[in-house]
Amino acid sequence: MPNSPMTWHPSDIKPHTPLTSLDRDHIKTLDHSYRLDHVAKAVGMSPLFVRKATSQKDTLNTQSVLHLLDLDAFQETIIPRSQVIAYLTSLQQNAMDSNYTPNPSTYDLRLGNALDLIQTIPESTVQCVVTSTPYWGTRTYEDAQATPWADGEICPYGLEQTPEGFVRHTTEVIDSLARVLTDDGSIWWNIMDSFNTRTQIRNSAVEALRAMEGKDSRKWHDHSMRRYSAGHSYLKDGEQCLIPALIAERASRVGLYVKSVITWAKRSTLPEPHNSRVSRNLEYVLHISKTRTPKFIKNAYLIADPQFGGRDEFCETEKLSDVWVLNTSTGGNGHGAQFPTALPGRCIALSTEPGDLVLDPFVGSGNSGVAALHHGCRFLGFDISQTYLSIAKDRLENASYR
Ligand SMILES: C[S@@+](CC[C@H](N)C(=O)[O-])C[C@H]1O[C@@H](n2cnc3c(N)ncnc32)[C@H](O)[C@@H]1O
Repeated sequence: MPNSPMTWHPSDIKPHTPLTSLDRDHIKTLDHSYRLDHVAKAVGMSPLFVRKATSQKDTLNTQSVLHLLDLDAFQETIIPRSQVIAYLTSLQQNAMDSNYTPNPSTYDLRLGNALDLIQTIPESTVQCVVTSTPYWGTRTYEDAQATPWADGEICPYGLEQTPEGFVRHTTEVIDSLARVLTDDGSIWWNIMDSFNTRTQIRNSAVEALRAMEGKDSRKWHDHSMRRYSAGHSYLKDGEQCLIPALIAERASRVGLYVKSVITWAKRSTLPEPHNSRVSRNLEYVLHISKTRTPKFIKNAYLIADPQFGGRDEFCETEKLSDVWVLNTSTGGNGHGAQFPTALPGRCIALSTEPGDLVLDPFVGSGNSGVAALHHGCRFLGFDISQTYLSIAKDRLENASYR
């Protein structure tokens, strides 16, 4: 079934790890066969390793999947262990019914749930995916809508009850992108970590800053959404969740290559009220590819306009490294969680040539689109919010296409 969004009402996040487990007795009674490539992704192992572990070639029976679920090598990817068999069975039934086939000559913007819209893209047509998703438990967005995910949770992306849920949903999106990526294509995934703390969930960084400056008189219970910190199977109050590292590992486990984990060293950040830890000055950009040697134009770093990803001579070395020193967005354009055009600009400059198709499945105010057009690429942007999509449309109408 397509993951169509549905009306959503804010509710608090309580990161209680569910007490679910594998029902071996039930599974033993099932008699199905499953595609080996589907199984490999669901158990977090390479197809080669699955063949070695089961001595099966292209399809597996239920007993073999159960055997994999028992191996030390098992690692959750898109689905918790207890649901893997049900998920593999449901995969045979999923199909997207749509009349829309994206093929922009310059750009196209579409309203909807990213997972649904990615399914409409023909296989191996996108050269570069560059995106910044909602971060876990951090912000509420305009027009947020609940989405049903493969693990059964129904919530807006980023407002999962647990960090594991967020990591699973992110892996589900990344895995769906692998199908549409060209063999030498790149995925650039901007993500920040979250702390497992008790906090209010606000609309924007500007609103968070106002609160830190003492300009928000609302009490804890006046907020429409709050996040608690108790009830997790191992995370304690105040701990960093390590979400970017978990996402990178799972991208690898569903068969992709993690090429680099890039640090975006931000030149300005929000003040941090905590006295027991250092302030956070970074976000991450995961560079993920489908094959070992994606298209990579290293020299673009020295040539491109700094506003669109070229080297900032004042604070970056001549060597293109995994530390990118870039300004943060000024936060204009009516969107509370933007990246600067230099960030998608650099990713696009390094991994595309003019005419290539760039996709941002969480396009927000359209910075990735502006950067793609600047570099002479075609662009496809999706967002679940009409408000943000309208902002992106205005910006792309006025952007210059090389
Ligand atoms: C961090 S913002 C992206 C900001 C963007 N990079 C910019 O510079 O403006 C994440 C975006 O994802 C959108 N979003 C959230 N869930 C979505 C979903 N399921 N499908 C498509 N878009 C979604 C939000 O509306 C929001 O605009």
